[in-house]
Amino acid sequence: MEKKVILITGASGALGKQIAAYLESQGHALILHYFQHPIRSENPNVMTIACDLRIPSEMEEMINQVILRFGRIDVLINNAGISKSNVAWKTTAEAWRQTMQINLDAPFFLSQAVIPSMRAHAFGRIINITSVVAQTGFVGTSAYAASKAGLIGLTKTLSKEVAKFHIAVNAIALGYFNTGMIEDVPAEVQTKLLEQVPVNQLGDPLLLAKMIDFLISPEADFITGQTLNLNGGLYS
Ligand SMILES: NC(=O)c1ccc[n+]([C@@H]2O[C@H](COP(=O)([O-])OP(=O)(O)OC[C@H]3O[C@@H](n4cnc5c(N)ncnc54)[C@H](OP(=O)(O)O)[C@@H]3O)[C@@H](O)[C@H]2O)c1
Repeated sequence: MEKKVILITGASGALGKQIAAYLESQGHALILHYFQHPIRSENPNVMTIACDLRIPSEMEEMINQVILRFGRIDVLINNAGISKSNVAWKTTAEAWRQTMQINLDAPFFLSQAVIPSMRAHAFGRIINITSVVAQTGFVGTSAYAASKAGLIGLTKTLSKEVAKFHIAVNAIALGYFNTGMIEDVPAEVQTKLLEQVPVNQLGDPLLLAKMIDFLISPEADFITGQTLNLNGGLYS
């Protein structure tokens, strides 16, 4: 496969790190975005960049820096995300707003910002990382579930708008993985969650990285507007 220029948001997070490591091993050029946990790389094909995804001007600047360095962006992986658990009636306006800003607004603004480069090169892939809780609902996740469900709607509409420019837009809805956000869940709740997963195991981030690598390959040219479930049978 021809090597791609790939921007991964939240590359400093648990899943982002492993997606980045795998795509780097496949020889792609990477832009690794972080917020509060800096990433270092000696690889000349890897650029690291900080950006607060709540601030549109910072996102615009990040995309400008990437285009300056690599001349294009082939793939955008909207992976950064936050979850501020609380039942709806205890969710503060600030928690709601921040969750929307990072989980939904940022993927929208970043998609807007990369589309001109993708159009100019007649190739693009946008992959939005969403969650099974957007599909099923889960107590204590009203803001998170709403933001991630919004991402599925964005994926569907955007895919139809940009298909004619050879840009594919897909979402991957994750079940429970063995690292990252799950670590904020108390151990006894983790045990109960696991009992609900038909394959009786948590997801391995390497599977996610390989699914992404497939979605950016020519074999996936006919896949767009989809939400691919990676959840061990939790929801179908
Ligand atoms: N892990 C799971 O089981 C699971 C399940 C379903 C869906 N997901 C989804 O998978 C994605 C990755 O999850 P994860 O488990 O790897 O999460 P994580 O370890 O908590 O990582 C979150 C990432 O988001 C970044 N971030 C947070 N606030 C930000 C801000 N204001 N501006 C820019 N970036 C910000 C963090 O950057 P810094 O660390 O540099 O501050 C970090 O890279 C998320 O979208 C999540 O919703 C995960």
